[in-house]
Amino acid sequence: MRFRISIILVILAGVYFSASGQIDTSKGSCASTGCHGNLVSQEVVHDALKKGCDKCHQANGQQHPQKGVKTFSLVKDIPQLCYKCHDENNTMRVVHPPVQKGNCLECHNPHGGPEAYILKINPPGDLCAKCHTLESAKKKFKHEPVAKGECVKCHDPHQSETDRLLVRDIPALCTKCHKPQAEELKMENVHPPFQNNCLNCHNQHSANNEKLLDLNPQNLCLYCHDDMQKKIDKATLVHGAITEKRSCINCHSPHASNQKKFLIKDTKTLCLSCHDRTYVNGTRKISNISQTMQKSKTVHAAIEKVGCAGCHDPHASSNAFLLNKTFPSGSYAPAVKESFALCFSCHKSEIIEKATTTTATGFRNGDKNLHMVHINGEKGRSCVLCHNPHGSPNDHLINEKTQFGGWEMPLRYQSTTTGGSCAPGCHAERKYDRTSVIPASPSEAPKK
Ligand code: HEC
Ligand code: HEC
Ligand code: HEC
Ligand code: HEC
Ligand code: HEC
Ligand code: HEC
Ligand code: HEC
Ligand code: HEC
Ligand code: HEC
Ligand code: HEC
Ligand code: HEC
Ligand code: HEC
Ligand code: HEC
Repeated sequence: MRFRISIILVILAGVYFSASGQIDTSKGSCASTGCHGNLVSQEVVHDALKKGCDKCHQANGQQHPQKGVKTFSLVKDIPQLCYKCHDENNTMRVVHPPVQKGNCLECHNPHGGPEAYILKINPPGDLCAKCHTLESAKKKFKHEPVAKGECVKCHDPHQSETDRLLVRDIPALCTKCHKPQAEELKMENVHPPFQNNCLNCHNQHSANNEKLLDLNPQNLCLYCHDDMQKKIDKATLVHGAITEKRSCINCHSPHASNQKKFLIKDTKTLCLSCHDRTYVNGTRKISNISQTMQKSKTVHAAIEKVGCAGCHDPHASSNAFLLNKTFPSGSYAPAVKESFALCFSCHKSEIIEKATTTTATGFRNGDKNLHMVHINGEKGRSCVLCHNPHGSPNDHLINEKTQFGGWEMPLRYQSTTTGGSCAPGCHAERKYDRTSVIPASPSEAPKK
């Protein structure tokens, strides 16, 4: 390089020799005459040139130009030459090795050129690629600024107080461009790994999955939440919402939320955002809960009070219907409180324990407990034969229809202020009254 420079300087020197034998390298003269005009006619010209070639070059007393003789030398070595006019950029905690070594000309032209910042190669990505074969940027999904070669949006090419030459600390680096995430950091509940470091989950350059993730959402979450992994492994039933593609992030924000447990909505709205349709899975039909509730005269107060998660485990369970406590999956179960632990976690089990009562239940004829009439022995009826646990167009959450063997049987329930009546397929119309006992007709007991 040196050799080439001197040749050119030598060739051109003669023309500009002043009378005194010195070269006039002051403002403009070397360039204006045409010899070095190309230097100042480039698209981007280093402003230093306007201050004079002599700010960087000095004649070494030899006639200029001279074949094979070096007639000019730099007034200082690089990088000290550059630091005459520019702040030293090797004083911070982390200095880029080529800068540390003073190799400014690895990246910059001294005079100018076609590229901004008098760079030798642009965009910076291609410049960086001279020395960095970035494995971390070769995966399928690329971060847009990386794909565009905008490395310097995140890295300072010279120096930084932050590791990896970052222009800011994380997360400020990321939230500089990602405003919604800056807002999320201010929410009521912030997921600790989100607060700590975006790179806990995202790759900075590229990734194998969408959203710069290396793991799909389920594996990503379970990587840290191994208790949840154990729960899922142990359970006999895993919620369809988890086995779906978006999995955990169907319900949780990975970042933050104003709802508890980083839920994206309050539980009721959340659950009904999917259970507003009927799911059909083979012979299994999972009913439309939203519709049941809309058609209801009364919605089970449990839903308003504790939400769907008061009875269902949103993740996985070994109880039928993802219930979080024991409840029969069919129509019958032994008439002990343990069979209906779910209901009796809020209601008193005496409704199936006191044959006669004037207080335990309103479902009685005089003092005869009709809950016990229906729920006794090994083959006690399940609550859901009469009640819909979500809501119903009848009073007391009584079903319109009930499952009886293979067919749906209408209950035709009517309530009165002191009792009620029903006329199901399994017995003739029956009435009950708490104040004046309605006499029983012959063959009374309901069929089993
Ligand atoms: C900011 C400092 C600086 C200024 C101002 C400057 N040069 Fe240079 N010039 C250099 C450096 C550094 C080199 C050596 C480049 C290398 O080693 O590759 C150089 C090299 C040269 C060369 C050798 C050929 C080349 O392009 O590499 C010529 C000719 C030259 N300069 C002419 C000039 C002229 C004429 C002026 C004024 C119009 C000028 N320079 C202003 C820094 C400067
Ligand atoms: C005689 C003073 C002087 C010297 C010596 C000097 N520069 Fe500059 N340089 C300037 C001025 C003036 C500017 C324009 C104002 C600014 O950006 O600071 C500039 C701008 C720059 C820019 C920005 C160009 C742009 O298009 O925005 C780069 C890069 C640069 N110089 C690199 C260097 C390098 C590398 C050296 C050493 C080889 C060097 N300078 C030596 C005066 C100098
Ligand atoms: C690894 C490549 C690389 C090296 C080595 C390098 N620079 Fe730069 N420099 C850049 C890039 C890229 C930019 C443009 C930054 C941007 O786009 O914001 C830049 C911009 C500049 C600027 C203008 C913007 C600013 O930060 O003020 C100056 C001046 C500058 N460099 C001087 C130097 C000097 C002096 C050296 C040697 C000590 C040097 N550079 C070494 C890549 C480099
Ligand atoms: C002239 C060669 C060269 C060029 C050009 C170059 N680098 Fe480097 N860079 C190095 C060397 C050498 C290291 C230290 C070894 C390593 O970590 O790979 C390094 C390290 C780094 C590091 C890691 C620093 C750390 O703390 O580990 C980053 C980030 C980096 N360079 C970014 C860039 C960017 C961005 C560009 C383009 C603007 C660039 N480099 C251009 C040579 C270069
Ligand atoms: C969106 C911001 C961003 C962009 C754009 C970006 N990087 Fe990085 N880069 C980072 C972060 C953050 C790290 C730190 C990773 C860590 O701490 O483990 C990093 C790490 C690095 C490293 C060291 C570790 C590694 O992955 O090899 C190098 C080298 C590097 N970047 C070079 C580049 C180059 C070259 C480009 C342009 C092609 C670029 N970066 C673009 C944010 C970015
Ligand atoms: C210079 C601006 C900039 C910076 C800094 C930046 N990003 Fe990005 N990021 C973008 C752009 C542009 C996109 C593509 C458009 C979009 O999805 O918003 C993007 C997309 C993303 C995406 C979504 C990718 C997809 O497939 O939709 C994630 C995740 C992301 N960035 C994370 C980060 C993280 C983490 C950081 C900090 C290490 C960061 N970004 C820093 C500009 C930036
Ligand atoms: C616990 C893991 C985790 C952490 C930590 C994390 N993210 Fe995310 N991020 C995700 C997941 C998962 C998605 C995909 C969300 C989706 O598709 O709805 C995502 C999506 C994004 C998106 C794309 C948003 C969109 O609407 O497409 C951006 C941007 C983003 N994250 C930025 C960040 C920033 C910035 C940080 C740090 C402040 C961060 N993330 C920390 C897991 C995380
Ligand atoms: C890098 C590890 C990490 C990853 C990945 C991660 N989390 Fe977390 N998460 C934590 C930590 C740490 C806590 C706070 C300690 C705790 O409560 O377990 C937490 C807390 C939570 C909580 C609140 C727990 C409670 O009892 O209050 C939920 C909900 C949660 N994470 C969901 C997710 C979801 C969904 C994902 C996937 C998008 C995910 N996490 C990915 C580390 C992680
Ligand atoms: C159908 C919605 C839904 C899905 C899908 C879901 N969660 Fe949850 N998650 C919830 C609800 C609702 C709560 C709050 C439960 C409560 O209030 O008792 C919760 C609570 C949590 C908690 C706090 C501890 C606990 O057991 O209550 C963690 C941790 C958690 N979820 C992680 C995950 C992970 C990991 C995934 C994916 C494998 C996931 N969740 C999928 C709805 C969901
Ligand atoms: C009081 C407890 C309780 C609450 C609160 C509750 N459920 Fe249920 N849920 C049950 C019981 C019991 C079953 C089983 C019904 C049966 O055996 O037919 C069930 C069944 C289901 C089924 C399966 C339906 C089918 O046809 O197989 C879905 C879906 C469901 N519930 C969703 C919800 C949603 C959504 C909410 C909140 C709006 C909710 N549940 C609130 C107790 C409850
Ligand atoms: C992202 C959609 C989605 C959300 C949100 C959702 N579910 Fe589900 N749910 C499903 C799917 C899919 C199935 C399984 C359907 C199938 O088996 O085909 C299911 C099944 C169920 C079942 C029946 C399980 C069985 O096999 O008996 C219950 C109960 C249930 N969900 C309750 C809830 C509750 C409670 C919530 C709120 C915490 C909720 N779901 C939120 C999609 C969702
Ligand atoms: C999380 C608590 C909770 C659970 C679990 C629960 N309930 Fe309830 N239930 C309530 C509350 C609160 C009310 C309203 C106050 C009351 O009548 O006791 C109520 C009311 C009722 C009513 C009376 C409705 C009326 O209008 O008279 C019936 C019937 C009922 N529940 C049946 C059940 C059945 C069947 C189960 C089990 C599948 C069950 N409940 C589980 C909290 C619960
Ligand atoms: C044969 C139908 C039938 C079965 C089976 C049944 N119930 Fe009822 N239940 C009723 C009727 C009818 C009422 C309304 C009583 C009234 O007029 O106030 C009622 C009322 C209730 C009430 C409101 C308070 C009270 O006792 O009056 C609760 C709570 C209740 N049932 C819980 C259950 C639970 C829990 C199960 C299962 C263990 C169950 N029921 C099984 C028919 C039934």
